[in-house]
Amino acid sequence: MFLRNSWYVAAWDHEVPAGTILARTFLDEPVVLFRDEAGAPVALEDRCAHRHLPLACGRIVGSTLQCGYHGLVFDRTGLCVRVPGQTQVPPGARIRSYPVVERHRWLWIWMGDPAAADPATIPDYHWNDDPKWVSVGDRFHVKGSYTLIVDNLLDLSHVQYVHGTTLGTDAVVDFPVHVTRHDDRVQIDRWILDNPPPPMFWRAGNLDPAARVDRWQLISFYPPTHVVIDVGCAPAGSGAPHGDRSKGIEMYSNHTITPETKTSSHYFWHHARNFRRDDPAITEFLKKAAGGAFFEDVGIIEAQQASIDTDVEKLPRVDINADAGVIAAQRLLARRIEDEAARR
Ligand code: FES
Ligand SMILES: [Fe+2]
Repeated sequence: MFLRNSWYVAAWDHEVPAGTILARTFLDEPVVLFRDEAGAPVALEDRCAHRHLPLACGRIVGSTLQCGYHGLVFDRTGLCVRVPGQTQVPPGARIRSYPVVERHRWLWIWMGDPAAADPATIPDYHWNDDPKWVSVGDRFHVKGSYTLIVDNLLDLSHVQYVHGTTLGTDAVVDFPVHVTRHDDRVQIDRWILDNPPPPMFWRAGNLDPAARVDRWQLISFYPPTHVVIDVGCAPAGSGAPHGDRSKGIEMYSNHTITPETKTSSHYFWHHARNFRRDDPAITEFLKKAAGGAFFEDVGIIEAQQASIDTDVEKLPRVDINADAGVIAAQRLLARRIEDEAARR
């Protein structure tokens, strides 16, 4: 169901300012996030070891969290370090703590075996805080499975039906995707050659809406839920498919999904550009346009999940050519989950 030994985004950095407690569920487990006195993020099980009050109802005391019911105090490792009214802490008074690392403006949490948590394996989302890029982003709570959101991102043939006012043009599905399967990722590339740019591109890039462009959608999927999409366009025939993007505009549309439950998710995204970086109007426009487009996906996914929920097991599904990348990604993730289960 879930790949546990993996980094997931728990929150944006600004969602956990000093002195506040954020409660969120990941992979069906209630978690509480806060910062210690040095500003480092802490993630603990959101359930007191005494009578199970959520610790989110408590308060931060220095670098510890104090339960809001009878005052037990837990340190960043989850160990109970104080029981008011007695000198001894009962043995076994501890809750789970989770490795958490702040990187690229996100707080990353590890829900599996803490001994296996290696920060070097946090996926690369440097566009989110690299000064060469200007990035906008947000988080959506989605009443839909993380797998439906990943599928949505890996099959962009939907853009012309779901995102007609921003990302879609009529030609997208006429250009097939090229799927490459690697050990650690699936690459799903599409080039839409000699066609007009979509509305979001010509507005952001100050292009002629009737211009002919070569447009790319190069999707990298890293299990379990990380999707990096290199998108952009350049004048048709100017060499972009062969690597010369000097006359074009480049953006990264990056996404990562953290399962909340089997049928609900935290959807984090950011959209980065490296042109007209000093123009706040473009930043604002892209935040609205990209956020609006992804919110259209949320509407689709929530309706899809509700439909699936009516008859989970028995519904037959058909596959079409555009599903090649999605199916390769599903197999790669299923293999990872099976491997992890076999090692337990
Ligand atoms: S429930 Fe937390 S101290 Fe009693
Ligand atoms: Fe979409």
